[in-house]
Amino acid sequence: MKFKTVMLAVCGAAALSCALIGCGKKTTQAVVQSYGLKDAFKGHFLFGSAINEDQVSGLDTAGANIIKTHFNTIVAENVMKSEKINPKQGYYNWAPADEFVKFGEDNDMFIVGHCLVWHQQLAPWFPYDAQGHYVSADTLKNRMREYIYTVVGRYKGRVHAWDVVNEAIDDDGTYRHSPYYDILGEEFIPMAFQFAHEADPDAELYINDYGMEKPARCQRYVQIVNDMKARGIRIDGIGMQGHMGMDNPWMHEFETALEALAGTGCKVMLTEWDMSALPTITDNADITENTLYSDSLNPYISGLPADVEAQWSERMDSVLTICMNHADCFSRINVWGVSDGDSWRNDWPVKGRTEYCLLFDRNHQMKPFLTKYLKK
Ligand code: GLA
Repeated sequence: MKFKTVMLAVCGAAALSCALIGCGKKTTQAVVQSYGLKDAFKGHFLFGSAINEDQVSGLDTAGANIIKTHFNTIVAENVMKSEKINPKQGYYNWAPADEFVKFGEDNDMFIVGHCLVWHQQLAPWFPYDAQGHYVSADTLKNRMREYIYTVVGRYKGRVHAWDVVNEAIDDDGTYRHSPYYDILGEEFIPMAFQFAHEADPDAELYINDYGMEKPARCQRYVQIVNDMKARGIRIDGIGMQGHMGMDNPWMHEFETALEALAGTGCKVMLTEWDMSALPTITDNADITENTLYSDSLNPYISGLPADVEAQWSERMDSVLTICMNHADCFSRINVWGVSDGDSWRNDWPVKGRTEYCLLFDRNHQMKPFLTKYLKK
C-alpha cells in the first residue's frame, strides 16, 4: 500500500472512532449502546433526564450519547420556560425548543414540555402593564390563554405531556404568593389546565412541585387534584420534583407522599431527580435561595470519599426501589441533568460547589450503584 493510501486509511479510522466516541467539546468515552437504563426499567416506568442545548446540538457528544443509550424520556431543562421562549411581548424564540422537540422525535422519546405556568424564570413582562403594575385579572387570563395556546399549539401532537403548573404551593400548604395567585387567586391552576387541554386535547397534563413529602403541601395537592377531577378538568399526573439531599427526604416520607398522591388516581412521577452529596443547606428547592460560599460547605473538591458515596448510593437505590414497588401508579423518572458537571446544584444554593448529585460523573461514567440494573 502506498503511503498516501495508508495515511487515508489511518485518517479514516481516526475520523470514524472520533465520530463513534464523539469529538465535541466535552467528549469522553460514552458511546451509544443498545441496552441501557431505559431498557432495564422497561415494564416499571419511563426513565430519562432534563437535557440542555449542548446535548441537543451535539456539542456535548458524550452527554448526547448517554441520553440516547439510557433514556427514553426527555424534558427541556430551560428552553421552554417563558423567559426563554417568550422573553418579550409578541416575540417568541422558537429555535431552541424546536430543536429539543426534534431531538426527542429523532430518538423516539416521550417528550415533556416544561413548564407553562411558573413564577420563576417567568418572562419579565408577563404579569405587568407599561407602568410596572400588575395587570388586571382579565388581562392576565387573556395572556395566559394566548401563551398556552401558542406554545402548546405549536407542538400539538409532538410534545406528549406538559408540566402545566410548577411550584404553586408553599411548605405549609398555603398557596404561594406569585403574580398568578395574587392576580387570579386559586382559580389560576384549573384555568391553566383547561387552556392546555383546549390547545392539545391529547397531551397529558401534570402539576409539579418540590418538597412533596411535606404533609401540608402533599395534602393540598391531593385536594387541588381531586377538586379539578370533580369539575371534569383534565389532569393526568403529579410530579414530585425530587431535589433531594443526604438527609432529606427520609424514605418513609417519600413513600408516604407518593402513595397519598397516587390516591387521587393520577400517575405519580419523579420529575427532577437529583441528590446532593454535600452538606445540606435547605430541604426545599426554591431557586432564589443563596447561601454565601465557604470551604466547609464544599468539602469534596477532589472527589467524593468512599463512605459518603456508599451512603449516597444507598439512598439513591432506595428511591429506585420505592418507585419500582409502586410501578402500578408510578410512571416516570427524569433526572435533572445528565452528568455531575452539568447540574444546577453546583451553583445552588451555594455558588461554586463541586456536586455529585446525578447518575453519571464528570467523566460521563455511570455511578457504580446502577450497574446491577444493567445485568440482563
Ligand atoms: C425547579 C424547576 C426546574 C429547574 C430547577 C433548577 O425545580 O422546576 O425547571 O429550574 O428548579 O434548575
